[in-house]
Amino acid sequence: MTWEETIQYIRTQPAYQDLVEKAYFEEDLPLNVRRFRESEEYAETIRLLKHHQPNAQTILDIGCGNGISAISFALEGYTVTAVEPDPSPTIGAGAIRQLQQHYQLQNIEVFEAFAENIQFEDNRFDIVYFRQAMHHANHLEKFLAEAARVLKKGGLLLAVRDHVVFDPQDKAWLLETHPLQKFYGGENAFSPQAYRNAMEQSGLVFLKEYKHFESLLNFSPSTKEEIAQRLLQIKTQRKKHLKSKIGFLAGLPFVFTLYDTYLDKKVGKALDEMVVPGRMYSYMARKR
Ligand SMILES: C[S@@+](CC[C@H](N)C(=O)[O-])C[C@H]1O[C@@H](n2cnc3c(N)ncnc32)[C@H](O)[C@@H]1O
Repeated sequence: MTWEETIQYIRTQPAYQDLVEKAYFEEDLPLNVRRFRESEEYAETIRLLKHHQPNAQTILDIGCGNGISAISFALEGYTVTAVEPDPSPTIGAGAIRQLQQHYQLQNIEVFEAFAENIQFEDNRFDIVYFRQAMHHANHLEKFLAEAARVLKKGGLLLAVRDHVVFDPQDKAWLLETHPLQKFYGGENAFSPQAYRNAMEQSGLVFLKEYKHFESLLNFSPSTKEEIAQRLLQIKTQRKKHLKSKIGFLAGLPFVFTLYDTYLDKKVGKALDEMVVPGRMYSYMARKR
């Protein structure tokens, strides 16, 4: 199946409804945009862009799929250039053009191209942004070299939600467990070192790596609140279990404090990124 066929298929399957909603793959394109704009991830994205590039006017969004981010940036007032190699009206450039018309946007242009082969002039954009796109690079160094070339001097690169793997076995685990890989076979991932090296080789100054649980850019649509709740639930269950085993002793201040400290360490493992196949990282860099 192609990527477009995969998305059309999972939309018909009840088992994938949650994924369709959370990944913004609904047939109702404006609904995806509305939900993305209301997300914590988008709020955090805009916060970072405004903080690190306050006077930016132009954004290049590469590998922008059905346009949730590119359209949101245009609605925010940025002048947006959207690049997406897939012409699909379901999940690619065709979908972005429909949204452009729907919102009557004059401040967005859509191009069908691969990141490795964009035709824009040097030093053109204030910001280059990729969401879940860099890990699909055909050629990672070229992908980043082109992004760096078209950024203005001092311009900002924000690459969010890229799968990272640490060795071939770790990559195989991602490919085996990814919910859509069995249909379309197009998943990929690189090591954090490979992403960082490719940025630095492109003349970008590496600013920040956000590991999986360090930023909701990565773990959204789970919210910070949900993650804190999950930790609390696990701790409470384990304390009940201890009480069922040792009774009133579990309530003694000394035992309580000791067990609490132990759980903080153990429960921290519930958020160990190594239990997440192909956990996602985000990156920020600046052109010299
Ligand atoms: C997982 S989707 C992400 C789409 C969108 N950014 C989002 O977050 O919803 C990955 C996108 O990257 C595009 N893509 C794949 N290889 C690419 C490349 N070499 N250059 C640019 N885009 C690419 C795909 O066509 C696809 O739309």
